[in-house]
Amino acid sequence: MPDDAPPSLRPPAPAPDPADPLDAVVARRWSRRDVLRLAGAGAAASWVWACGGGGRGAEAGSPLRTKSPDHRVADGYAAQVVVRWGDPVTPGAPAFAPAALTADAQARQFGFNNDFLAFLPLPKGSASSDHGLLCVNHEYTTRADMLPPADLSRPAAELVALEQAAHGHSVLEVTRAGGTWTVVAASPWARRIDARTTRIRVAGPAAGHPRLRTTADPTGTEVVGTLNDCSGGVTPWGTVLLGEENVDGYFSGTLADDAERDNHRRMGIPAKGARPWAAADPRFDLGREPHEPNRFGWVVEVDPYDAASVPVKRTALGRFKHEAATTVLAPDGRVVVYSGDDEAMQCVYRYVSRGRYDPLDPASAEDLLDDGTLSVGRFDDDGTLHWLPLVHGAGPLTSTAGFASQADVLIEARRAAALLGATPMDRPEDVEANPATGRVYVALTKNKDRTQTDAANPRAPNPYGHVLELIPPPDAHGRPDPTADAYTWEVFLRAGNPARPTDGAAYGAAATADGWLACPDNVAFDPRGRLWIATDGADDYGVPDGVYVTDVAGPGRAAPQMVYACPVGAELCGPCFTPDGTTLFVSVQHPGEGSPYGAPSTRWPDFTPNVPPRPSVVAIRRTDGTQV
Ligand code: FEO
Ligand code: CA
Ligand code: CA
Ligand code: CA
Repeated sequence: MPDDAPPSLRPPAPAPDPADPLDAVVARRWSRRDVLRLAGAGAAASWVWACGGGGRGAEAGSPLRTKSPDHRVADGYAAQVVVRWGDPVTPGAPAFAPAALTADAQARQFGFNNDFLAFLPLPKGSASSDHGLLCVNHEYTTRADMLPPADLSRPAAELVALEQAAHGHSVLEVTRAGGTWTVVAASPWARRIDARTTRIRVAGPAAGHPRLRTTADPTGTEVVGTLNDCSGGVTPWGTVLLGEENVDGYFSGTLADDAERDNHRRMGIPAKGARPWAAADPRFDLGREPHEPNRFGWVVEVDPYDAASVPVKRTALGRFKHEAATTVLAPDGRVVVYSGDDEAMQCVYRYVSRGRYDPLDPASAEDLLDDGTLSVGRFDDDGTLHWLPLVHGAGPLTSTAGFASQADVLIEARRAAALLGATPMDRPEDVEANPATGRVYVALTKNKDRTQTDAANPRAPNPYGHVLELIPPPDAHGRPDPTADAYTWEVFLRAGNPARPTDGAAYGAAATADGWLACPDNVAFDPRGRLWIATDGADDYGVPDGVYVTDVAGPGRAAPQMVYACPVGAELCGPCFTPDGTTLFVSVQHPGEGSPYGAPSTRWPDFTPNVPPRPSVVAIRRTDGTQV
């Protein structure tokens, strides 16, 4: 989602103050423990502290870091728009007609506000980088950016159906020839999943629970549609996981005075300014269907290799505002899924399957996401991370506290996490594990609401965000064990501009003047083991959102370099790579957002009169064809 408050409403940056808790945190976390250790490892690994007067960097000035109606790439790179909102997806879909949008056309076209991306090779199991399935989330809609003003007075049923059809997910077959990507027309894999008609099975401990039953689904086992699919993940067995994030923005009406009211309020329901879907779809009227919100906020599994497959909501992974669902295979074959709950003062979660995945037996994957242990992170100031299990009957998670079953614990994962003493974080976004080292990187995008620091959230408020590095301990064979009950952790970088001491930014020693970033959101590793960080909110600080790359070890650790800048108004999402690392796909979400339909701040990517800006997927490559 775009930033939620204009700069004028943001709290001011903290003034320098020797007694500032930040300094205490710095002292606690680095001056004693890390700086000394890193100093012993050599100057190349040392940190630079702008707040201590050793700052480097300057305000933006390069063309790449200047807001522009068009997107831009760093020298030596090229960018190609692959698919845009409204482009045909399924066979026979009509062409985009912005002056005559309909739900039936949209249901067969590329949806709005693309977010998560995955490239899955074709044939399945190959490492092809020239042919594959591009899997794309469509997170949310803003009808004023989609429709000409005159169309906003169309009947509510038409508008709601159009918006529902623009949500969800697209599967596209894509091929590359001569460095250029093409969407294959009439592909047997082409598919749209939406919030209007797609039937989704509910699986895991909450399936069929009375709190998931509604008038339309008295069994509580089948939901129509998926909402607010933000980031996601890819499983070892070739499915994709979609994280349902801000599901509060769809429900309106009056809540009954019961325990469900408190549950919904904890998820922000009803949300101020929620889309007026209840006007045309009774599912979204809280007075009529008080259980409907409990059917969203889950992780949804989709098999893109089978266009007829039924997507599944995997309730064992918990219900909250899932930014992502990043999967790692443990050395013993158990499956680990990391997920951030993207809201100020919410938490980081980890799921570990009970069973083991056997690549030679695809059937072994079937129930792995239905039977396992969901845990939530407690980040201690001594640099330890404890994973606290959300298990019914354990600790405070009993009927005394209102949890009658594991289903209750999962439906109200936020309340369970708070009772366990999990650490409230600075808006946990994407999580990504380094395939080479097992270390896990968590983007904490920002938190204007924080008033008290802790070591893992060392600025209050935190308008710029930071990235944490989680370090699983070795198993008996010296391999990183992501299933361990406790990890250690470090702050990888603190975003902001090092040239402004009040930002409290911190990067590696090799950071450059134009390499600072703000509001980290999606993260990904390339085949060379470098970390890519996409941003959402840098616009507020005079720099376009975009994607940066940094080493995670050695002299270039935590020294980002910007590679791509979004057109004005957009955030960047979904970085993912072909297996050979020569194409980086990115999602450009909400270009021109916040400007009038008739006079948008950009008409990217078409730049055609009367065609609005269109969220699109972009392929980035090096002009010499080498790895990005
Ligand atoms: Fe949908 Fe947390 O961004
Ligand atoms: Ca975001
Ligand atoms: Ca995001
Ligand atoms: Ca990611």
